[in-house]
Amino acid sequence: MRPNRVTLYEVGPRDGLQAETAMVSTADKIALIDRLSATGLSYIEAASFVSPKWVPQMGDAAEVMAGIQRSVQYPVLTPNLKGYEGALAAGADIVAIFGAASESFSQKNINCSIAESLNRFAPVCDAARRDGVYVRGYVSCVIGCPYEGKIAPQAVADVAEGLLDMGCYEISLGDTIGVGTPADVAKLLDVISARISSDKLAVHFHDTYGQALANILTSLDYGIATIDSSVGGLGGCPYAPGASGNVATEDVLYMLNGMNIETGVDLDKIIEAAWFISDVLGRPPRSKVALAMRPTSP
Ligand code: HMG
Ligand code: MG
Repeated sequence: MRPNRVTLYEVGPRDGLQAETAMVSTADKIALIDRLSATGLSYIEAASFVSPKWVPQMGDAAEVMAGIQRSVQYPVLTPNLKGYEGALAAGADIVAIFGAASESFSQKNINCSIAESLNRFAPVCDAARRDGVYVRGYVSCVIGCPYEGKIAPQAVADVAEGLLDMGCYEISLGDTIGVGTPADVAKLLDVISARISSDKLAVHFHDTYGQALANILTSLDYGIATIDSSVGGLGGCPYAPGASGNVATEDVLYMLNGMNIETGVDLDKIIEAAWFISDVLGRPPRSKVALAMRPTSP
């Protein structure tokens, strides 16, 4: 059941940098993505084509996409057709639509109900199908919501199935505020895996309460083989107060290497990228592994 190969889906340049209060320059974002492209990662979520009034940190998405050296896949977030058109013009091959299992979070994050969000995503999926663009689907608040508390696994499964039905190739299950424990994850995946095959699922853990690695281990035992993570443990969500960074790519990689699970990703190069962006931000990385394995100057 536990996979022997895992795909790491890097979200640092998007989920990470969207939550930083400091505005990172376009040049530094491009430099980070170019460094990550040389690590063996296959997916690097590069930007969001969202309203710059809502998330100013992602306002330079087109410039970032134009500036990077492309060698792997660079998905971008698109909440609606306007965002999709921007992403298409920027040459994105994969876009991600993002819904939630919590009504309150949906309202706060994308200013509409869950049902309205699915109505907005459908034309994005139709256009993507026409244009040969792949669509990833996110479901946020799969365990807890900052406004509503506990979320029922059935509510998560309903939204996830809605996104798959409209054409998403994969659903990323997001513990947006990082409240889940392995027991919560097992309860969730018992329900989800009865309805959706594990090869269509990814997990996306924020590490607010230090549970992310344990939750990933639990997810591996359900056969899930795509893990979202963020270099240096960057991250959060502007509409989820208190949410800390995503689980750090280097922490996940250290664990998978130790378990002999293949990723194709070079740990030293990820750590170098973690220190690069942390130096830009003027603070140390949030991950244990980057602190333990700080690169020495040449
Ligand atoms: P709205 O205000 O309801 O949108 O926002 P609207 O359609 O009424 O348009 C209002 C204005 O926004 C108009 O401009 C539109 O042109 C503009 P104005 O006429 O006022 O000058 N607009 C846009 N501009 C640029 N790009 C667009 C776009 N769409 C409309 N795509 C909207 C609705 C969805 C746009 C807004 O709520 C929004 O941008 N939200 C994004 C929030 C966000 O990015 N959150 C973080 C990502 S989700 C996350 O982090 C969770 C995740 O990591 C998983 C997990 O952890 O669980 C994925
Ligand atoms: Mg997130």
